[in-house]
Amino acid sequence: MQLSTACAVRPATEQESINKLMGLAVFGEKVAAKIYLLMSELKEEYAPILTKFAQMEAQHGAWFMEASRKNDIEPDKEFADNELGYLIYQVDNHFKARSFESLAVVQGFIVESLAIATYESFLSVAHKYPGTHEVFKKALEEENYHVDWILRYLRLRFFDAEEDFRVLAERVNIQGIDCMGGTMMNIADYLDKVGLSGADCAGAMMDGYTQLLEKVGFEQKKATKHVVNMFMPLFHKYRRGEKTK
Ligand SMILES: [Fe+2]
Ligand SMILES: [Fe+2]
Repeated sequence: MQLSTACAVRPATEQESINKLMGLAVFGEKVAAKIYLLMSELKEEYAPILTKFAQMEAQHGAWFMEASRKNDIEPDKEFADNELGYLIYQVDNHFKARSFESLAVVQGFIVESLAIATYESFLSVAHKYPGTHEVFKKALEEENYHVDWILRYLRLRFFDAEEDFRVLAERVNIQGIDCMGGTMMNIADYLDKVGLSGADCAGAMMDGYTQLLEKVGFEQKKATKHVVNMFMPLFHKYRRGEKTK
């Protein structure tokens, strides 16, 4: 007897997958721009550089939109809104609490890290979509430049106060990693369809995250321990089939 497949979820096509991934890139850039603008409102002394960063993020979104148009890719806004909603909710709460430091941690450690990990991977398949390699490479360089600024800020702000930073990063990032990890799980099949690996992207993000902690002043062993402590509950949750959002 043949089992009915009527209820089975149809796997996404390559076109649907790239639409969803590009949706996350385009609308994720809008979130990045929003965070820098909120940060600029909280610390006037940094407003010139932070509004410049916000403009750069908006420009990345515009580049990706234009490259999509040329390749008949339609960035999936509904999918992206759904994935990014939880992150935006957290960002709004950090802003309401007027916590510049929390926004800096979310932006530097979560948003920029995710962009860097996925854009780096995307470069290996960008040749399939003419015009995308150039803009993702340029965006990647600029994300590294933004991270550099955030790291310098955090290093000075928490100079000789590593424990305070650890407490802050843990509080802010546990939520952030929870939602980004959820997105990573949700996009794994789409990454696969366009020739990328979700495991590679998640690994790159963990690796990048550890390096960021080291640059802020953590010893390598402590940084690794911190990252494992944060990522492991998420892995456990997913291995047991629970969803975080
Ligand atoms: Fe960007
Ligand atoms: Fe950036």
